[in-house]
Amino acid sequence: MRYKLGICVFVGVLTGADVAAQQRPATPLPGSVFQSPEARAMQSDDTSNPAMLWVEKGRSLWTKSDGATGKSCASCHGDLQTVMKGVAARYPLVDQKSKTLMNIEGRINNCRTDHQQAPPLPYESNELLSLTSAITYQSRGDVRLVGIDGAAEPFFTQGRALFEQRQGQLNLACVQCHDGQVGRKLRGDTVSQGQTHGWPAYRLEWQSMGSLHRRIRSCSIGVRAEVLPYGAPSYLALELYLAWRGGSLPMESPGVRR
Ligand code: HEC
Ligand code: HEC
Repeated sequence: MRYKLGICVFVGVLTGADVAAQQRPATPLPGSVFQSPEARAMQSDDTSNPAMLWVEKGRSLWTKSDGATGKSCASCHGDLQTVMKGVAARYPLVDQKSKTLMNIEGRINNCRTDHQQAPPLPYESNELLSLTSAITYQSRGDVRLVGIDGAAEPFFTQGRALFEQRQGQLNLACVQCHDGQVGRKLRGDTVSQGQTHGWPAYRLEWQSMGSLHRRIRSCSIGVRAEVLPYGAPSYLALELYLAWRGGSLPMESPGVRR
């Protein structure tokens, strides 16, 4: 699929009506469009995408026995490539039992603690990044469809408010960059719509795979706002809102980013 960058207009002061009109970009564009041709080429070819190392590792972890139960993910779920098809495209979602908003990382750790009796894997550990990458890879090309009604509604509303809220010493809201400044250069990057469909992604600057929350934390640092812990409820709410905001964009994780 090929996309062209549209003309971008900087919205200086966002009134309520402007914000309402801009809740979802008229044409959602995948993050890869804003990357260099080299990064895009790496992403689209599995043999040159460094993120595939994490996907491979995740596949082997899937079949590894762990925890007090000695069970592997596969012993309950079966073949990763079959059973996890399209799953990540439905996340984050509200977990029926705990009534909390869960992303893929949260779901994996919930299975570890509840079903394997194993300790949760820390965010950004190689293991959690690998399992998340392997599961998300099975949704590549799938359209994201997250629930925003019912139990999910309060989280969605919170996520939207956070996206529009000015923060940090620079007093900037996510929407001001990822809507108002799309296509502009900022410290060597081209500002994108802030879509999440390429995450987790391999970031050349990190020389590693990283989670979506790590990416959002970088944006918080950029505007000198408070950096929240990985898995923070606010980041989860933003994750839900952003997943919805992507509209019919297909999943493109594992992405390659500058
Ligand atoms: C000062 C401008 C600025 C602000 C404010 C900002 N970001 Fe970003 N953000 C960037 C830049 C620059 C990048 C890297 C280039 C790109 O992909 O847009 C980025 C990347 C991202 C990406 C990754 C997009 C991709 O496809 O790889 C996401 C998601 C994101 N930001 C979310 C947020 C959220 C959520 C907030 C508010 C908490 C926020 N950003 C605030 C500038 C900003
Ligand atoms: C003892 C069985 C068992 C084991 C072991 C197990 N799970 Fe699960 N998993 C479940 C059940 C049951 C559910 C449904 C949600 C629930 O009740 O926790 C689930 C749900 C999931 C989901 C969400 C599926 C969806 O459609 O929303 C993912 C992803 C997942 N597990 C990944 C893993 C991973 C990764 C591992 C290994 C680290 C693992 N599971 C280990 C039983 C297990």
